[in-house]
Amino acid sequence: MSIVIQNLEKYYGSQRVLNSVTETFEQARISVLLGPSGCGKTTTLRCLAGLERPSAGRIDIAGRVVYQDQPAIWVPPESRRVSMVFQSYAIWPHMTVFENVSLPLRAAGASRRAIEQAVSETLRLVGLRDYADRSATQLSGGQQQRVALARCIVSESPLILMDEPLSNLDAKLRISMRTEIRELQRRLERTILFVTHDQEEAMSIADTVYLYRDGSVVQKGAPKELYDYPATRYAAEFLGRANIIEQFEWTLSDGCAVYTLPGGVALPSAADSRPAAGSMLCIRPEKWRLVGAGQTGALPGRIAYSSFVGDRTEYRIDTPAGPVSVVELNAVPRRVGDEIGLAVAAEDIRVVME
Ligand SMILES: Nc1ncnc2c1ncn2[C@@H]1O[C@H](COP(=O)(O)OP(=O)(O)OP(=O)(O)O)[C@@H](O)[C@H]1O
Ligand SMILES: [Mg+2]
Repeated sequence: MSIVIQNLEKYYGSQRVLNSVTETFEQARISVLLGPSGCGKTTTLRCLAGLERPSAGRIDIAGRVVYQDQPAIWVPPESRRVSMVFQSYAIWPHMTVFENVSLPLRAAGASRRAIEQAVSETLRLVGLRDYADRSATQLSGGQQQRVALARCIVSESPLILMDEPLSNLDAKLRISMRTEIRELQRRLERTILFVTHDQEEAMSIADTVYLYRDGSVVQKGAPKELYDYPATRYAAEFLGRANIIEQFEWTLSDGCAVYTLPGGVALPSAADSRPAAGSMLCIRPEKWRLVGAGQTGALPGRIAYSSFVGDRTEYRIDTPAGPVSVVELNAVPRRVGDEIGLAVAAEDIRVVME
């Protein structure tokens, strides 16, 4: 069953760290808590695990209330059937891989045979079957990370909390571990809450992303949905790159807004996107098409900067609406100083709030 938190509050002294968070994290899915440093991600996990006592609210794990302020309910961490992997994965150097992974089962008093079987099976799952007898210190960072993962899943707790578990790994390993965690999750069908402040990691691993800001979830959704439909400038900029146009005017034409940018170019909008006061336009760099200078309906610009990065070329283009970032796949040769036009499809223009 899923994880439900209701009106969860956490204060440290007078600092409010969780601001009445109400969310459901779906069963057997990977929910990713994403947000900048200090926004309350770790605190959420620690409250779920019972390592931290919330100030108010309620937490249900798989249909059981584990915390409630009034009337008071408190289930201690060891009775919550939750396991957690931390950023510093804390495996014991004086123990072998097998011993490390078997710890939760020994703590639970499992029989030797049951331990043998469960640990071997789990080591096979994480690709460490041949390393069981190795001392934990004789492993690479990625292997140690997998030991920590194995120890986390061996206990069969239905809920796994992962707090930036990949942050100590090098870039290449981080990326391959994403896939491994996703595959493991598909096979084991556990409920995973995964914390990161890396948007790419969040998008590649999540079924649902929960975007935090100052102790609240400000937007949630499937990665693509969140990337394509950010509600705010904050969401747009946190989930990738965004060109934000603050200054524009708009009129209605056949029920649809037409945005007029500085310099006079008019961009049509898709239906239902009448901007409210204070709203801004958001266009992702890859949504622009570079066209010939002077083309009707295109924003005129001049290439100020261009950078070839292998599979794509990135440009900064000076326009009357300000500098615009553009990413082009299969770029044709262009030079700094070239005059060009920038076109965008109506459905690729988003209206966002601050
Ligand atoms: N034990 C504590 N005592 C006092 N303040 C704390 C304590 N733990 C966390 N905080 C504060 O609560 C806020 C949220 O912390 P939290 O660890 O949840 O952030 P986070 O989103 O996990 O950030 P990061 O990405 O840096 O890990 C921060 O301002 C932090 O300084
Ligand atoms: Mg943290």
